[in-house]
Amino acid sequence: MAIPLVNLPRQYERLAPAIDAALADVCGRGDFILGRAVASFEQAFAAYTGARHAIGVASGTDALHLILRALGIGPGDEVIVPANTFIATAQAVWCCGARPVLADCDERTATIDPDAVRRALTPRTRALMPVHLYGQPADMDALAAIAAERGIPVVEDAAQAHGASYKGRGCGAMGIAAGFSFYPGKNLGAYGDGGAITTNDDGLAQEIRELRNWGSDVKYVHKRMGFNSRLDTLQAAVLGVKLPHLNAWNARRAEVAHQYREAFAGDPRVRPIEQAPWTTRHAWHLFVVRVPAAERDRLVKALQARGVGAGIHYPIAIHQQEAFAPLLDAQAGYPATETLASDILSLPVCGEIRDDEVQVVIDELRAALDANVASPMGT
Ligand SMILES: Cc1ncc(COP(=O)(O)O)c(C=O)c1O
Repeated sequence: MAIPLVNLPRQYERLAPAIDAALADVCGRGDFILGRAVASFEQAFAAYTGARHAIGVASGTDALHLILRALGIGPGDEVIVPANTFIATAQAVWCCGARPVLADCDERTATIDPDAVRRALTPRTRALMPVHLYGQPADMDALAAIAAERGIPVVEDAAQAHGASYKGRGCGAMGIAAGFSFYPGKNLGAYGDGGAITTNDDGLAQEIRELRNWGSDVKYVHKRMGFNSRLDTLQAAVLGVKLPHLNAWNARRAEVAHQYREAFAGDPRVRPIEQAPWTTRHAWHLFVVRVPAAERDRLVKALQARGVGAGIHYPIAIHQQEAFAPLLDAQAGYPATETLASDILSLPVCGEIRDDEVQVVIDELRAALDANVASPMGT
């Protein structure tokens, strides 16, 4: 039985009539660029996150990049980002000419460690950009306190956190602005690339609306330089159909996470990333467990060989990526991030996974772990 990390074809099967109709509607109207579906999705997504504005853009990376641009961040500036994140968080900083400065994570929750953020501050620090990693909010109060002391903004990387909340506050409405990704595998995913910025700041929202459209809000009138980074109307139509299902999908993800946690509760070989005390709602974008580091790669291969779509998020830390060598001090230690990179693995979780499939994942992981005991060479 094949159990992918995320089952997008099954999701489409369930939504096909509504998705097909929404796409046909756009084609019938022909408003492919900043069409009606973009405006209505923006409205619905703003209401969902509790932010005053949502602005659709071409990707999650662009969302973060355009926020930083609108905040006036550029060459000579530094932005603190987690060492433990997908590389796009740091690349978005590079996109605006600024320097990403990494801060290690807390090994228990995998989110950015506020103490490490304090140590990473310099006179050039212009913003903090925490990530709500795997769908779990970063410790926003601690980060907001640091930012307030320095008079700098907090930008949320909410690419993995649609529907998550921190002490009752929704991700995407806590910082000066937040960037969301609608990459297909995200909790709310398009059928291609897409992203959005949420913010309560009217001026910032207006600036970003212009930045995404060559610096223009009125056709052929350009107040500033900008980019071509609009959320595609067809993607917005897909997202508009999916958004009303997001809470139910997230609830199913939470159920699955609970089943995994229960199954491995007494097994010291499988330690899920901890749920932080501040997490009111975890979006469970990924269900990540820690296993013995020496066994990790073998376990991933064994699961994949049995059709279980296990993954590693992420196997090579940013500071160990060749692309970042000129920007970062490769020798700087990020021990928690490095430890996690060596011993984590992600198990399938999505709104569509069935109970029998969850059981297969559990059984296969147990079997793979036990296989090592049976073989003294650990092959
Ligand atoms: C934490 C994080 N930040 C940023 C991004 C970038 O989003 P996108 O792929 O839509 O550019 C992603 C996902 O890809 C992500 O997981």
